[in-house]
Amino acid sequence: MVLPMNAILPIPGPHVACIMDGNGRWAKRRGLPRTEGHTAGEENLAEVVRIASSRGIAYLTVFGFSTENWVRPKAEVRHILSLHKRLFGRIQELNENNVRINWIGRPFDEPGARTPAFVQRAIRQAIADTATNTGMVLTVAFDYGSRAELLRAAQRCISETSSTASITSEDMQSHLYSSELPDVDLLIRTSGESRISNFLLWQIARAKVYFTERSWPDLDASEIDKALALLRK
Ligand code: IPE
Ligand code: IPE
Ligand code: MG
Repeated sequence: MVLPMNAILPIPGPHVACIMDGNGRWAKRRGLPRTEGHTAGEENLAEVVRIASSRGIAYLTVFGFSTENWVRPKAEVRHILSLHKRLFGRIQELNENNVRINWIGRPFDEPGARTPAFVQRAIRQAIADTATNTGMVLTVAFDYGSRAELLRAAQRCISETSSTASITSEDMQSHLYSSELPDVDLLIRTSGESRISNFLLWQIARAKVYFTERSWPDLDASEIDKALALLRK
């Protein structure tokens, strides 16, 4: 099922999306195991959330784990899963910052979905425990792939109509995992790769894109401000 965001009033401010890349290389440069890079990445996400909400970002959407990432070594996947439990468990901090949690990804009960039960529970709990916050909406993409999202939306549009010719952009939008999310204004990808990696293909249609050499664990306020400056150009 798709976890519905209880109807949210549109929040004024930009929608920023981040492809949080480079945790492994960050660790390698320090002679540490890749898992340490993921731990540092999760800690930096907490910091980025504080910075983003202080800058008036209305929606922050981050790529936590992709539909393609399951092929990584089992121990690394296990570690990343445990970090998502930690991330969705930061309720007190999220409430202090008035941040509301949301999630996008393959619906738990659909074929191919792989989110384990303990992560599902953490996601549901975080959504419930932050539902009354009125500040920034933090959407975590977990077991997310944009093609899967678009295929599902297209299938649903087709099953609802007698004439596929009448399907509109609005119909597609209404069947995305989180249809309330506005288009992305700014996409940031860390760690020097200039790829989109199957992230939010529909939603980034008109986004500015900021690629930085910084690894995700090193993305700081000054770099975020450089990216945000693109929105004023
Ligand atoms: C991003 O860092 C985290 C995830 C994709 C889960 P990577 O693990 O991709 O780090 P690099 O790209 O190998 O350095
Ligand atoms: C994209 O990073 C996915 C996440 C950040 C979760 P990857 O490291 O998986 O992307 P590719 O494989 O380099 O495109
Ligand atoms: Mg990577």
